[in-house]
Amino acid sequence: MASEDLHVVILAAGKGTRMRSALPKVLHQAGGLPLIEWVVRLARSLEPRSITLVLGHGADEVRAWFSKAKDVQFVVQEPQLGTGHALLQTRSLLEGKGGRVLLLSGDVPLLTAASVRRLLDAQTALRAAVVVATALVGNPTGYGRIVREGGRLTRIVEHRDASEAERAIDEINSGVYVFDLGPLFGALAQVGSANAQGEYYLPDLVGIHAEDGRAVDAQVVADPDEIRGINTRAELAEVGRLLQGRTNQALMADGVTLVDPATAYIGPDVTIGQDSVIHPFVFIEGSTSIGANCEIHAGVRVVDTSIANHVRIFNHSVIVQSTIGEGADIGPFARLRPASAVGERVHIGNFVEVKKSTLGVGTKIGHLSYIGDATVGAGVNIGAGTITCNYDGHTKHQTVIGDGAFVGSDATLVAPVTIGSEAYVAAGSSITEDVPDGGLGIARARQANKPGWAADRAAKRQSR
Ligand code: UD1
Ligand code: CA
Repeated sequence: MASEDLHVVILAAGKGTRMRSALPKVLHQAGGLPLIEWVVRLARSLEPRSITLVLGHGADEVRAWFSKAKDVQFVVQEPQLGTGHALLQTRSLLEGKGGRVLLLSGDVPLLTAASVRRLLDAQTALRAAVVVATALVGNPTGYGRIVREGGRLTRIVEHRDASEAERAIDEINSGVYVFDLGPLFGALAQVGSANAQGEYYLPDLVGIHAEDGRAVDAQVVADPDEIRGINTRAELAEVGRLLQGRTNQALMADGVTLVDPATAYIGPDVTIGQDSVIHPFVFIEGSTSIGANCEIHAGVRVVDTSIANHVRIFNHSVIVQSTIGEGADIGPFARLRPASAVGERVHIGNFVEVKKSTLGVGTKIGHLSYIGDATVGAGVNIGAGTITCNYDGHTKHQTVIGDGAFVGSDATLVAPVTIGSEAYVAAGSSITEDVPDGGLGIARARQANKPGWAADRAAKRQSR
């Protein structure tokens, strides 16, 4: 449902001192995405007319993260004089546009669209100048407190400015608001900085609107976790666990078995088909898609990879930017580097590395091989320890292996080289010239046996 009159502003200029980090706070990752990306995705889901990020500390890095996003605009707040001052930076972009502003914090990634919709509905129903999202919490220390008189919201007071009685209030300001754009910037101009922190407080808008007789409202968010902000690495880890929990719950609801959801680290953009089984301590990242009836064993990492149905990935394999055909099995301890295209029913065994190579249907590479820059046909058998020597110190070269070829163990294939279809390569060969279709390439010293050699040697020793 598009929100024709909605503008979203996301505050992300603050320093995040307590993270003790060179990285801007909002670019720290939780649940597989930077914090700010979660917030921008929430904004997008509302289909607003605009999304504006207020940047300050680390502005260039945040901009760089969104360099491909066409639906996000930026304003810079410099210096950072408080949350009210931050929103004021959007004045030239938003004043006079009509409609309303949803204000979000770049470090509050758990908020849901359902909760935002309730805020928006309340604003519409009351024609309120501001609706603030609040929560009832066990320990309100540090938060702004929601002050009500006769049950009605009158103002918000920051912890540091609050009286003893106000500090006892357990309803807190989440820092998420919906504002009617009409009176917004006029009221914002009235916000002063005569407070404990010497900052322009955005929550002061509530008191200003209320005193001017405009409708103000507070909506309690049912699950206080939703409005959890991140100030420290410990909070980052906790919120990350909650975000991961949501992703994992959705996967299980869709028919995926997670043997231990607490250690299944699966990105929010990953798709997994029904009856696939994900074992403990697995990392599945980026735009990975996994088909139905797959099995991903413990310790596996998969990044930006497309996996068809009925694929088994055994323990401790690492797979990046590759495609894997139906019924293939890989690992344990296999490594697929970018641009590897593994065909249907391919078998890749332990300690095999594949890079930028195509493997045809049913091909087998069972043990201890390196296959790089190669095009391997269907039904090929690659013996243990086979190496494509793809690099001459300057340039990478191609190896081509035709359908049905049999490469004996411990062969080195010095590229560029072609092994014909149905051809054989003798074990232990160093192949530097093409092998014709159906031929045998053998390139190793002929064996000479010396009968009785051991006894002769022993006799020589004794006579010394
Ligand atoms: C704010 C609220 C408080 C509320 C709490 C909820 C104010 C004055 N107080 O406090 O009532 O309970 O959030 O978490 O708003 N930011 C800027 N520019 C600035 C200052 C802050 O962009 O000059 C951004 C920060 O990057 C952050 C957000 O605004 O994303 C909130 O700022 P923060 O300093 O964390 O406010 P709190 O003290 O937590
Ligand atoms: Ca905060």
